[in-house]
Amino acid sequence: LQKYKLSTAIGGVLIFLVQVFINLLLYTVETLIETGNEARKALRVLLAHRNYIVLCDTTSARVCLPHFPELHAAKRHIFPDGEQHKTLQQCENLLAMMLDSELDRNSMLINLGGGTLLDMGGFAASIFKRGISYINIPSTLLAMVDAAIGGKTAVNLHNYRNMIGSFHHPEAVLIFPELLQTLPPEQWLSGCAEFFKHGIIQGEKAWSHVCNLPVKEWFDEHTLVNQAQFKYDWIKGDPFDRNKRQWLNVGHTTAHAIETAYLKNNQSILHGFAVAAGLWIESYLASTLFNADSNFAARLQSRVLEVFPKVELNAEMQRNVIDAMVFDKKGAKGARVFSLPVAPGKIEVVEVAQTAFINEAIEAYRYA
Ligand SMILES: NC(=O)c1ccc[n+]([C@@H]2O[C@H](COP(=O)([O-])OP(=O)(O)OC[C@H]3O[C@@H](n4cnc5c(N)ncnc54)[C@H](O)[C@@H]3O)[C@@H](O)[C@H]2O)c1
Repeated sequence: LQKYKLSTAIGGVLIFLVQVFINLLLYTVETLIETGNEARKALRVLLAHRNYIVLCDTTSARVCLPHFPELHAAKRHIFPDGEQHKTLQQCENLLAMMLDSELDRNSMLINLGGGTLLDMGGFAASIFKRGISYINIPSTLLAMVDAAIGGKTAVNLHNYRNMIGSFHHPEAVLIFPELLQTLPPEQWLSGCAEFFKHGIIQGEKAWSHVCNLPVKEWFDEHTLVNQAQFKYDWIKGDPFDRNKRQWLNVGHTTAHAIETAYLKNNQSILHGFAVAAGLWIESYLASTLFNADSNFAARLQSRVLEVFPKVELNAEMQRNVIDAMVFDKKGAKGARVFSLPVAPGKIEVVEVAQTAFINEAIEAYRYA
């Protein structure tokens, strides 16, 4: 009997170890990140012997596709520009086109565009035939340093941002900095907001870089790829946003709520500008509620106003922002959860129950 018990116990341990191993294999994030000539070579290799279609938006089809002669003969799906089109309906149109194009489980979707398109394309790839491979070719600064990496895919639902989505990592992220030549200045500045956010998370050296250098000198080609690599390394240890990945959401509970309030009003706002306002408001919360380093909060707030345009919020918008925060994906049962910037290299993930504090922070921003 004892022998039987021992072998059952050993069997149990072995099964457990095999399960851990399988989970590790399943959840390992492996994404190739390349730029320049290496990216061009990788693209050719990835395309060889694969059935694929290219997803563009109206602008990326016009200004980015010509950079890729290797994609000219490919079937393409063109999605209308803009966040308001990041919907289930648009996603269904894409899925129908993928079906008509006879894509199978070994086929691939090539997403060429900004974060809006990458989010939707990644989502379609994650659900088509229970998941096919995709590669991201980001064409905005924001997408190169942030949205293309990390496998968060999404569409909006009833104006609530990124409510329907999945974690599905791209097979490769290929960065071609020359695509930025046509990017309008305000879109470039919007991308700088996610770069600024990385500066807060990375600690003193990166923080001093974004605080002290003129924005035009924040990065060159080399730093651009470093930022993409930084995000990739950061999320690798926490692919499902349960732990330290939540630091990357700093400023974003407020930013997404601002974007929802704008969408509800049929107005548009650039994601990076909402993030900059979110960082301001959340640093105010951090300093009033959590004794954050007050010099850091003051510097963050003044830097946001120096670099990024102020986001217009009237009293009605303010109410809508507060209401929308409850729908943020981080919170459970209606709690408003924030990743608050406390010091360079330090973020606290906390619930803020008192609406009065949030109102005060938004009002402070409105009148700053
Ligand atoms: N999945 C993630 O981890 C993640 C992270 C950050 C942001 N996002 C999402 O990214 C989206 C914002 O992305 P975005 O700022 O790239 O905006 P976007 O994709 O809407 O692009 C902005 C505009 O620039 C145009 N454009 C794209 N490339 C261009 C080029 N090379 N030249 C000229 N115009 C060009 C687009 O057509 C669009 O009109 C939001 O939906 C946000 O939720 C996702």
